[in-house]
Amino acid sequence: MRWPTGGSAISPASAALLLLGAIPRAEAAYSLQTLYQGESFFNGWSFWGNRDNLTNGAVYYVGSNEAARANVAYTNAAGNVILKADNTSTLAIGGLRNSVRITTQETYDIGSLFVMDAYHVPFGCAVWPAFWTHTRSWPSGGEQDIFEGVNLASQNQAALHTVVGCTVANTTTNVTQTGTLTYDNCDYSVAAKHGCTYTDSRNQSYGQPFADGGGGMYVAETSSDAISMWFFPRANIPADLLATNGTPDPKTWGLPWAYYPSSSCNINQYFAPQQITINIALCGDWAGQPGVFSPSCGTGSCANYVLDPSNFDDAYFEIASVRVYGGGLNTRGALSSASGVIGGIGGSQTRAPMSGARLQSSAGLMPVFLVALVVATLTQSLF
Ligand SMILES: *[C@@H]1O[C@H](CO)[C@@H](O)[C@H](O)[C@H]1NC(C)=O
Ligand SMILES: *[C@@H]1O[C@H](CO)[C@@H](O)[C@H](O)[C@H]1NC(C)=O
Ligand SMILES: *[C@@H]1O[C@H](CO)[C@@H](O)[C@H](O)[C@H]1NC(C)=O
Ligand SMILES: *[C@@H]1O[C@H](CO)[C@@H](O)[C@H](O)[C@H]1NC(C)=O
Ligand SMILES: *[C@@H]1O[C@H](CO)[C@@H](O)[C@H](O)[C@H]1NC(C)=O
Repeated sequence: MRWPTGGSAISPASAALLLLGAIPRAEAAYSLQTLYQGESFFNGWSFWGNRDNLTNGAVYYVGSNEAARANVAYTNAAGNVILKADNTSTLAIGGLRNSVRITTQETYDIGSLFVMDAYHVPFGCAVWPAFWTHTRSWPSGGEQDIFEGVNLASQNQAALHTVVGCTVANTTTNVTQTGTLTYDNCDYSVAAKHGCTYTDSRNQSYGQPFADGGGGMYVAETSSDAISMWFFPRANIPADLLATNGTPDPKTWGLPWAYYPSSSCNINQYFAPQQITINIALCGDWAGQPGVFSPSCGTGSCANYVLDPSNFDDAYFEIASVRVYGGGLNTRGALSSASGVIGGIGGSQTRAPMSGARLQSSAGLMPVFLVALVVATLTQSLF
């Protein structure tokens, strides 16, 4: 199916559906599409196997055959997945610390619900971890950062990175989210290339308070109507997310903390099927910058801070599961746009690539994938 790339003209097919009245909710329910968990977690992820050649972090991201020896990616006795920066090796000046960057081989299209259930996320000086999704053809096709932290930040930050034209309205009346909008232009190339960002207002969304609360769930719903993100401390996880094979219904969860409506950023236009990446950078283009690393992390350089392994005892993810639910109809105003209806009723979908010219975009701050994108195919089959 070729997705509409703009506008909201109603196609004959969806007009027919509208005439038939409301689509039964049962058709809109999310169901588990992929579960990454336990011993089999690493099936389906690729390891980077190189230095951080995209964001200049002081890390070497191990390859799959190096991960076990480096002891930075494994399943622990509790059955949870550990992804960490090495905290045993003292480095020579200029050295790179072993760390992890893994990316799913599968891509997930609009209509997906992404969940990371974690007990601990990396934090501390020099540390820059993220749980995020992106296209192979970045920046065309977009990126959503669902969890991201840096140095001594006390809350989670969300961001979108897109090609030019996607923005967020700064709503002061009829507020649609609980987080604070800190930048409103999602264009990957402007400002400090930080994308359009929200900060969660809850300290439990990051760092030691996150771990103290038993961790929790970071959730993003990528629908034609909006990208919406929720964070649930463990004590407040909705019942429909407790079991991995439930039927989560975001409409019942209250306001998201980060909300990017299609009214100012047409999700169908700016977002293509996404791969999930989890990584832990150290220093680099964000955490290592003067004014970011220093003065809160001292007066020395981030590069020197990286040399001492004892600084990284908290630089690890402990992950119970990463899940992707699929099959969702838009949960906000499901019938408000034709594209949403189309997105919801498809089975196996093929999405046409975006403008070929955009595939040649020059390297930016964030990851760039110049893999030739022929046609990204989303297979909805599982296991
Ligand atoms: C960065 O490293 C990856 C993994 O080895 C490689 O595929 C890619 O071509 C490199 N990119 C650049 C810009 O050097
Ligand atoms: C407030 O926002 C909601 C959700 O986006 C929307 O449905 C509603 O129409 C808005 N109300 C006003 C008065 O703008
Ligand atoms: C949003 O509006 C508020 C209130 O006017 C203002 O303080 C804040 O700086 C604005 N944020 C952005 C990102 O424009
Ligand atoms: C959140 O963390 C900041 C920075 O550590 C701290 O100043 C603030 O008091 C904390 N807020 C709460 C409600 O604990
Ligand atoms: C590395 O960090 C882990 C997790 O915090 C901790 O259990 C372990 O003792 C640390 N290793 C060393 C050598 O300090």
